[in-house]
Amino acid sequence: MATARGSRENRFLVWGGRGWIAGHLEKLLKSQGKEVFTTTVRMEDREAVKTELDAIKPTHVLNCAGCTGRPNVDWCEDHKEDTVRSNVIGTLNLADCCFVAGIHCTVFATGCIYHYDDAHPIGGPGFKETDPTNFTGSFYSETKGHVEEIIKYYANCLILRLRMPVSDDLHPRNFVTKISKYERVVDIPNSNTILTDLLPASVLLAEHNDTGVYNFTNPGAISHNEVLTLFRDIVRPGFTWKNFTVEEQAKVIKAGRSNCLLDTEKLETKLREYNYSVPEVHEAYKKCFERMRAAGVK
Ligand SMILES: NC(=O)c1ccc[n+]([C@@H]2O[C@H](COP(=O)([O-])OP(=O)(O)OC[C@H]3O[C@@H](n4cnc5c(N)ncnc54)[C@H](OP(=O)(O)O)[C@@H]3O)[C@@H](O)[C@H]2O)c1
Repeated sequence: MATARGSRENRFLVWGGRGWIAGHLEKLLKSQGKEVFTTTVRMEDREAVKTELDAIKPTHVLNCAGCTGRPNVDWCEDHKEDTVRSNVIGTLNLADCCFVAGIHCTVFATGCIYHYDDAHPIGGPGFKETDPTNFTGSFYSETKGHVEEIIKYYANCLILRLRMPVSDDLHPRNFVTKISKYERVVDIPNSNTILTDLLPASVLLAEHNDTGVYNFTNPGAISHNEVLTLFRDIVRPGFTWKNFTVEEQAKVIKAGRSNCLLDTEKLETKLREYNYSVPEVHEAYKKCFERMRAAGVK
């Protein structure tokens, strides 16, 4: 994308500055010696967004803000207006203000807008970026699916669909931390995003002013039991867990949860242009857990 600011150095502004992924991104950009700012300005407040963009004058906004619900997405079922204001109005408003100001906008979106169906069964082909969304079992996913349908028309936007992100620590938002603490866990193959592999790719894509929608996960799908087996073998010897069925799970959660495989061919092809590759998900988990073990995480 051509920006009004021509050839000056990149200046990154991370939105949702106190969030989990935002923190990882800020740390990564700093470690790469990039100029990075963060903000917690509410995305739906158009005047405040314009003032912030004008004050910081970023070349790139990295939008890590979003209503994710606490303790989990079930919260969104009972707070629909709050969820819409952040995930639809806010996300669109920020993208639009960036568009008007000639700023590239990367949206950290979600792939939890699909679930396995007859054309995409477990073990079959994954969902491509062009496939229409088919999961509205949670209001959180519904808002994310709606906003993507509109935001994809903005020529300044790069939309990265993450799924079940995993960090190299046991932060409460890490997918592994979550499933290791559940009393019972389902066992379904899914696409996952190992942040150590994918966050550098997000910077590469943004720096090249790439736009459009990308499934943003490691290639392949891994089941909950496969993840927990690797976790037990590498990080926490003796760890045990109990499974239950999706039907039993439905009784203890308010909103449905998406389970799917995303096709990563588009992402892998693009990243090859930049000599960057993302490891297959089982391999990626092994490396991630080895980093955890080396750091003394138990
Ligand atoms: N973690 C996951 O499982 C996952 C998976 C796929 C995609 N994503 C997406 O990735 C993004 C970052 O996720 P995360 O895990 O880092 O979530 P997080 O820790 O909950 O961080 C999100 C941040 O966004 C802020 N925020 C919410 N609404 C806002 C608004 N209207 N304007 C400005 N800031 C707002 C929150 O601040 P307040 O707390 O003050 O509201 C919070 O600091 C989200 O959009 C999420 O939907 C996450």
